[in-house]
Amino acid sequence: MPFRTLFDFRLPTCLVHGPGSISRLPEFLPAGQKTLIITDQGLRAVGVVDKVIGVLDAAGISYACFDEVLGNPPASCVQAAYRRYTREKCGSIVGLGGGSPMDVAKMVGVLASHGGQVEAYLGAGKVLKNLPPLVCIPTTYGTGSEVTPFAVLNNPKTKNKDPIISWKIAPLAGILDAELCVALPASVGGPTGMDALTHALESYTNLMATPITEGIALSAIGLVGRNLRLACANDHELEATGQMLIASAMAAMAFSQTRLGNVHAMSHAAGGQFEIHHGLANAIILPYVMEFNLQARLEKFAKLAGLLGVNTAGMSTRQAAEAAVEEVRQMNRDLGIPAKLGEAGVKAKAIASMAEVAMKSGNVAVNPRRTTLRDMEQLFAAAV
Ligand SMILES: [Fe+2]
Repeated sequence: MPFRTLFDFRLPTCLVHGPGSISRLPEFLPAGQKTLIITDQGLRAVGVVDKVIGVLDAAGISYACFDEVLGNPPASCVQAAYRRYTREKCGSIVGLGGGSPMDVAKMVGVLASHGGQVEAYLGAGKVLKNLPPLVCIPTTYGTGSEVTPFAVLNNPKTKNKDPIISWKIAPLAGILDAELCVALPASVGGPTGMDALTHALESYTNLMATPITEGIALSAIGLVGRNLRLACANDHELEATGQMLIASAMAAMAFSQTRLGNVHAMSHAAGGQFEIHHGLANAIILPYVMEFNLQARLEKFAKLAGLLGVNTAGMSTRQAAEAAVEEVRQMNRDLGIPAKLGEAGVKAKAIASMAEVAMKSGNVAVNPRRTTLRDMEQLFAAAV
């Protein structure tokens, strides 16, 4: 099918990659100003925060550390981190960890340059000024928040996850250092890696794909196919872990331009009602949505099979496309990910309400196959 002819491609972030590349952090921070490290206590406990502090000490950059970020951070967490930022008179921010610390770092940057309460900046187009220098350092390989214009705020009352959307919040730099991911357990690495695969796959097949995003997404899918299982196999696979960090960032570069598809519409709806890890929900839902979308993008799905490691010699296009779905199921089995959302706590009685919420997502509008409420209910019924 023809590509869209009118599109932007943006990537304001400088990416630095390689084992030990955390040593480059001081290059992006203003000399003579204190920086605020935003992270979580898990990374403090395994010594990752100390590694970052060691680099700052060696460069003579003073710092404060806010290590109280939990998963799905609410506004109170962002405001607490921002109070620390102002009390310590910081001039730059380092987000260290998974999606949650990086997103809090972005939102503290918004408050540092705009003031007020973080809720005022939810939605698109509300962040108008440049943020203080912000460096994001991922220690998982899923969200790609180090290159995206998104930060997600959790609303514990409504259980909604509301995004701030602005290219102003894309970090100045992202540092991809596999040596900082050594403490990532396979139970987290598997689902987060499948989240990265879902980002790339949804971007590659959706209605908004462009020649640039397709190329990036395809490379990311190949990297996940070759490296995710190995990266999860043990703590010492630095090469595979580094490749997964690249895959995660590339997948995010692609979906930042194109949005996603039905998988994310469904996982956000499920995550709003049940305590289910975002990557785990995506991993489980992905093969069901692939089956649904197959007929709209047969050749693209056939191409995925080869990238995921399937020998497609002698297969028809349809057979190769179906083999891609089966290979995603096999990846889930290898990574210990269940086949059904029900095994992760999602209840069948919520199918109708989850489908209704999912249909409101902008990701459904760009899904390659037109999706009705009835389709969405059937997708949930299959996946639960
Ligand atoms: Fe995701």
